[in-house]
Amino acid sequence: MRLSKRVENLPPYLFVEINRKIAEKKARGEAVISFAIGDPDIPTPPHIIERLCQAARDPANHRYPESDSLPELRRAVADWYERRFGISFDPDKEVLPLIGSKEGIAHIAFCFIDSGDIALVPDPGYPVYSVSTMLADGEPYYLPLTEETNFLPNLDTIPEPILKKAKLLWISYPNNPTSAVADLDFFNKVVEFARQHDLVVCHDGPYTEVAFDGYQPVSFMQADGAREVGVEFHSLSKSYNMTGWRIGMAVGNATMISALMRLKSNIDSGIPQAIQYAAIEALTGPQDCIQEHNAIYQRRRDLIIEILNSIGLEARPPKASLYIWARVPEGYTSMDFTADLLEQVGVAVTPGIGYGKNGEGYIRLSLTIPDAALVKGLSRLSGWRNPHRRVVK
Ligand SMILES: Cc1ncc(COP(=O)(O)O)c(C=O)c1O
Repeated sequence: MRLSKRVENLPPYLFVEINRKIAEKKARGEAVISFAIGDPDIPTPPHIIERLCQAARDPANHRYPESDSLPELRRAVADWYERRFGISFDPDKEVLPLIGSKEGIAHIAFCFIDSGDIALVPDPGYPVYSVSTMLADGEPYYLPLTEETNFLPNLDTIPEPILKKAKLLWISYPNNPTSAVADLDFFNKVVEFARQHDLVVCHDGPYTEVAFDGYQPVSFMQADGAREVGVEFHSLSKSYNMTGWRIGMAVGNATMISALMRLKSNIDSGIPQAIQYAAIEALTGPQDCIQEHNAIYQRRRDLIIEILNSIGLEARPPKASLYIWARVPEGYTSMDFTADLLEQVGVAVTPGIGYGKNGEGYIRLSLTIPDAALVKGLSRLSGWRNPHRRVVK
């Protein structure tokens, strides 16, 4: 059987080796505590589940949904953006619900990338930006996110020949994996840059509601003129602990939204309607769960940072997102350190290199670990010993 070049050329999955080691440990009966996965451990709030069950019993929701989703859902998304960010969208032209934001993030490449076109992609970054570019026969050009620039891309260093071939710019704040945040000044610069170089901007913002110490992330769509150049992807996955239900949305530029809709209507048949009703409930119902979840994550964040610092890892408390981005100790690559943690203390983390070349030297720990496992995981981490550390006599 011969696979398409498109699939054959997909980059190797970098976590294969680590996953193999975890499986080996588990097979030997050794429990592994995982800080590796960014998937909320707290269940979806009960009022949302209740609405889902009610809607699932209604035969009207057993049939094909409309590709562009229920008008009530598009309206609920627009109203939520208005309340949360003070931006108004036309629910018929500027809002498109998605089967999880990952689905839309992957598909939008096919709306803007032709063979040989370039997409500007953050490194480290969520892998779907580059993989979808490659699937659309385009080329990712990586924008380094480094500590020196607070993990914001330095747009001024992109060479002119690259900019000539570039069609699309990906940005994402609060960021996965670095947990960096961006302000409106940065987003305004991005809009200006996109205008100058005729780029479309895709802002991926699933973590705008996961924030700490009273910090409130901004939306890219609040930038002056954002709607002329770009869209924002958002998701109910992390805001309402709904990763399993698969629902998200894109909002913004009407031409981009309509192109994505046109593509999708040829591929999928919409979002199961009961889930759309659950999403309406999430967006329009009580919002206390967001603060409640953030308080839990913040407490976990502080405990993890304290232990990491105590064993000699540099990590700053993030203002937002579900992640801690920590520097590995000197003498280790991110992969070696991940393997060492697993071997020495049975703790799994994500090696930064999995998110791109510039992720080297870091690991990512997720705050979505249940409290009981967290306590065990922290006690194990505190027992980690650095064999590279020189003993001064
Ligand atoms: C940066 C980023 N974008 C998008 C997604 C996809 O979220 P979903 O498809 O669940 O909406 C994730 C999930 O982890 C993510 O970290």
